[in-house]
Amino acid sequence: MNVKKIRLIHFRNLSDLSINFNSSLNIFIGNNAQGKTNIIESIYTLMRGSSYRTADDSNLINWNKGKTYILGEVERNEEIFHINILLQNNEKSENQTTQLKKIIKVNKKYQKKAGLFKKFNPIIFTPEDLQIIKSAPSIRRKFLDEVIININPTYYQYLKNYNRILFQRNTLLKNERSKHEITNQLAAWDQKIIELGTLIILYRIKILQKINQKAKIFHQMMTENKETIKLKYNSNVLTDYTDDKEEISKIMNLKLKNALEKDFQLKVTTIGPHRDDYFIMNNTVDLGIYGSQGQQRTAVLSLKLAELELLKEKENEYPPLLLDDVMSELDPERRIFLIQLIKERAVQTFITSIRLDNLSEMDVIKSAKIFQVKNGTVEEQ
Ligand SMILES: Nc1ncnc2c1ncn2[C@@H]1O[C@H](COP(=O)(O)OP(=O)(O)OP(=O)(O)O)[C@@H](O)[C@H]1O
Ligand SMILES: [Mg+2]
Repeated sequence: MNVKKIRLIHFRNLSDLSINFNSSLNIFIGNNAQGKTNIIESIYTLMRGSSYRTADDSNLINWNKGKTYILGEVERNEEIFHINILLQNNEKSENQTTQLKKIIKVNKKYQKKAGLFKKFNPIIFTPEDLQIIKSAPSIRRKFLDEVIININPTYYQYLKNYNRILFQRNTLLKNERSKHEITNQLAAWDQKIIELGTLIILYRIKILQKINQKAKIFHQMMTENKETIKLKYNSNVLTDYTDDKEEISKIMNLKLKNALEKDFQLKVTTIGPHRDDYFIMNNTVDLGIYGSQGQQRTAVLSLKLAELELLKEKENEYPPLLLDDVMSELDPERRIFLIQLIKERAVQTFITSIRLDNLSEMDVIKSAKIFQVKNGTVEEQ
């Protein structure tokens, strides 16, 4: 998969620019606050239909303008897709609030965001991704669920339906009616919740096995065989490991029943995959608690590279890799490993950095396209 070109109009501080990308390495150099991350974000938005940096895509529109265009060409399995995205702030006259209009066209045909989702899966790695290791279980679940959706889009429906039913079950638990009445009604929801919850747990356990296989190899290479990474599902439903569907379903059924009294008291559903987590282990210690900053960063990199390999297996070609501010944070050995890997596998890669000399060890720089980013403009060097 290959992003051939992009054209941006009023995208954040990038007022009007066109870039033809290299099919291998693209490097964006510039001082702070010039627009490097904005370029990475625009490439991501072109492929996904929305940003990873903000929940509100109207932030992508330049402050002084009412709309932005993100236009570009992406090649996937030798087919060219012309993508055309318009984001426009619509003033709502009655209550003064603005509403975002989003139009996505692929090859001149209107397309929903979900349509882009299924076609293009860039892998992005930013400094914030350290949160996958350091932060709350919800961030870890989000990473895992997104990997599964990229590999198997139907999982998105399971997750959506599960969350909808969970919401309804929680609403019922908050209801003032008699316990007896509510318990009868819960039975119907619980059947669904067990069915979907079992599928979610099963998908997660299976993908963790796959991620483990891939990540282990990268991690050992980056740490000269000194460290081994392993993800371990930490479920509030399962106490012992199993990937048997019937078994998971049986255990969840039992746990839900046992937790009913507690659920009534707390007025929320306390059992299910919405409360699950996974450990990220380095050798035998939990990286979130004991890992150094560099170890945590290396671990996230191993996870992202594992995702890259899994997508390659599914699509037969590598997705683009977006690395924002990552190189300067890695030691030279890990940087060289990463660049070597990109080169060997011919992964189209976008890198931002303040200075080029952070990347000077790399001989692939000779074949890279290097862009200078200055005050919202981009010049090829
Ligand atoms: N909607 C917007 N309209 C106009 N400018 C914006 C908008 N959103 C962000 N900016 C500005 O764009 C500028 C460039 O931001 P960006 O994050 O791309 O910088 P950067 O080159 O990655 O810098 P750093 O090296 O610090 O990461 C910033 O000054 C930011 O305030
Ligand atoms: Mg930046």
